[in-house]
Amino acid sequence: MKTIVITGSASGIGAATAQHYSAAGCRVIGIDLRGADIEADLSCASGRDKAISEVLQRSNGHIDSLICCAGLGGNHPPALVASVNYFGVTVLLDGLFEALRASGGNAVVVASVAATQGNWDGHPLREAFLAGNEEQARTLATDAGHGMLAYAASKHAIVCHIRAQSKIWGEAGVRLNAVAPGAVETPLLQQSMDDPLIGKATRDFLPPLGRRAQPAEIAQVIAFLASDAAVYVHGSLLVADGGIDAMSRPQRF
Ligand code: NAI
Repeated sequence: MKTIVITGSASGIGAATAQHYSAAGCRVIGIDLRGADIEADLSCASGRDKAISEVLQRSNGHIDSLICCAGLGGNHPPALVASVNYFGVTVLLDGLFEALRASGGNAVVVASVAATQGNWDGHPLREAFLAGNEEQARTLATDAGHGMLAYAASKHAIVCHIRAQSKIWGEAGVRLNAVAPGAVETPLLQQSMDDPLIGKATRDFLPPLGRRAQPAEIAQVIAFLASDAAVYVHGSLLVADGGIDAMSRPQRF
């Protein structure tokens, strides 16, 4: 039986992914703030340590897939967004790497189409993320103002991190990929729709496909990347956004 570890398993895309794997007869170990097998706060070092040690204990050090869905939208305090969306992912990837290697496993990180927008080249916030400097990233994220900037930067940086890890992880036989959803009907999107600053724009916007995604539709993309059908896909960002990225920058990819 395959062992699948899913962060953010209590809601939205993580919950849909957990459902997908449970229905397929896999053993799911969910991590979330509440309502999960392991209740841990991925915004801080102690919570990440707790998540890693409990996963290693429950899995006997063998994991087939790690799916990182836990995340916060841009309506949350920017420093918290930086901590959860970037360091809550990289620390888990590092901490569970050996357990993935032991099974010839793989990891999939849920980024966002926001990762592909804007130009972050040389931006101090991106550099702080990539240097692994959480304190500086939190300060710069706060200085940047609205949490949407921290959100976009954290998602862009996590994709950069995945690409940078592709050699080490590939040589270890552990595939590592990311998914970039657009607008998915989850509590996170609803919070953005209710935000006084970005709410109207979020509500009014529809992707080229003419509708927002359902969480289960993104779970299927995640499951594809984690499956043997994607055995040669590594270091990739799979955009599953109903056409948002293609529409917004048709000549850049
Ligand atoms: P959601 O809000 O339904 O689920 C996110 C889960 O992460 C929640 O269960 C929450 O408790 C958990 N979480 C948040 N902070 C945490 C912490 N400190 N420690 C542990 N768990 C924590 O949101 P959704 O939409 O399912 O988001 C999943 C991922 O997809 C996120 O990384 C998000 O950025 C990304 N995404 C979502 C999009 C959307 O339109 N819903 C679009 C693009 C990306």
